[in-house]
Amino acid sequence: MVCAVLTEPTLARALKTARTCAAHCDTFELRVDCLVAEERSKAGTFPQLLAGASVPSRVVLTIRSAAHGGSFHEGEVLRQKLFSRLLLQASECGYPFFALDIEEDFAPLELLEQAALSATTIIRSINDTDGMPADLSVRVTRLAKGTSATVRVAVTPRNSLELLQLCQLSRQLAGVPHSVQGLGDWGKPSRILAGRLGSILVFGTPAEVEELDLVYRYGSIDGSTAIYGVIGNPISHSRSPEYHNRRFAEDGLNAVYLPFRVDDIDLFFELARLLDIRGISVTIPHKEAVIRYLATADAAVRATGACNTVIRSPGEGDSSHYDGTNTDVAGFLQPLLSKLNRDSLDGFRATVVGAGGAARGIVFALLTAGASVLVVNRTPSRAEELVSTLAASAREREELVAGTLDSSGAQTAARFSDILVQTTSVGMHPNEGADPFPEYRFSGHEVVCDIIYTPERTAFLDRAAGAGCKTLTGRAMFDGQAAEQYRRFRALAER
Ligand code: ATR
Repeated sequence: MVCAVLTEPTLARALKTARTCAAHCDTFELRVDCLVAEERSKAGTFPQLLAGASVPSRVVLTIRSAAHGGSFHEGEVLRQKLFSRLLLQASECGYPFFALDIEEDFAPLELLEQAALSATTIIRSINDTDGMPADLSVRVTRLAKGTSATVRVAVTPRNSLELLQLCQLSRQLAGVPHSVQGLGDWGKPSRILAGRLGSILVFGTPAEVEELDLVYRYGSIDGSTAIYGVIGNPISHSRSPEYHNRRFAEDGLNAVYLPFRVDDIDLFFELARLLDIRGISVTIPHKEAVIRYLATADAAVRATGACNTVIRSPGEGDSSHYDGTNTDVAGFLQPLLSKLNRDSLDGFRATVVGAGGAARGIVFALLTAGASVLVVNRTPSRAEELVSTLAASAREREELVAGTLDSSGAQTAARFSDILVQTTSVGMHPNEGADPFPEYRFSGHEVVCDIIYTPERTAFLDRAAGAGCKTLTGRAMFDGQAAEQYRRFRALAER
């Protein structure tokens, strides 16, 4: 079950919000502590208001005290009185509350008895909006032993370790009705997989429940759903979850793709075993570190020292292993070749601007397809280093040389000007106007690519287009590598 948390200041606003997200959830949590004072005493009418508006009228009643991260400051005696009054009011309206959320250290007997009379379920909760208590596991175990209520844990993991511990905790609670979820971006996988890990309820803001439904198809995740994900740090900007989940939905596959913020790759792989993750997209800063987990690495990974796609090969027990590939390479080439209407770059001459991790994959891709390449970089030694690392990938008739990001480099680039690929961060939001290679004058016959996708059209691409060049945006390249990755994920999901 999915529960949308309503934190509006008035019942009318709460009702309006409930209407907008009703299609994406089964229940609502009314946070009475967030209502302005004069509205709180009427909050018992809310389930009836919902029913009148033909919206699901199952409501969890919560009055979170300031001590537990809420907005109720009037003390425990008044809180208990308000709870009692609202339970009564709702029953008198003929629409009792579905559940009552009270914290682990607050369970007045009269209130429990009153809730039982109206068949209102009890939820006992442990909340932490800033972190995750070190003694969480002990407290949860104690709470679960002492109550028949649903145990709710809503805490804020701050790293890979805490997310792993939270997922383990949910598994340990098998047999106890519970709802365990992590808040924030570290906790997001625990919300998407809450049901899969055994929770009977998952809570979210209206925007979160909408995303759970529309992007992650929460209601259709079950024990046999194949799990995929992207690892990176940060991760919240990643467009990959939207892309892969949409493709899975279009193909009618029982699979889901999650964003994992990861600061410790060893702990992530422990989580990957716990969750039985089948495929992993890898983004900054883990593309190099992930390689030591691979049993096999393809030529693109070996040459570039970077892996962006990990596939788990199923096997008996410990014999399962991970295979790594780098779809940035194929993902870059595919749209470029179709733009040129060719199936190879034999005889082409290209300039790559920048010599970082992204440039490495692109230089390898260009060489693999048959082009000669000039690498120009602000720090010339890095360009030279890249050239010497990839020298072995250049075939006999291919040239691979280093140059500088200045007027002399621009002169050399004029001789490597069939294709220009911009791989630095210059021109990326928030520095939209910046041009990494102003010394270079476009003749108009170049095909120009920029790996930046925010903004989609960079100043560099605009200048190229203005000179009459064909251009390829970072978005086309993102879609190219994502499509390549999806092809591999789909093959696994169909097994
Ligand atoms: P990535 O893995 O995304 O390629 P990276 O390895 O940090 O990231 O590489 C960043 C690239 O952008 C490098 O080529 C870097 O040039 P230096 O090697 O001289 O650092 C380039 N870059 C970043 N900021 C730049 C700037 N202001 N002007 C020119 N080049 C810049």
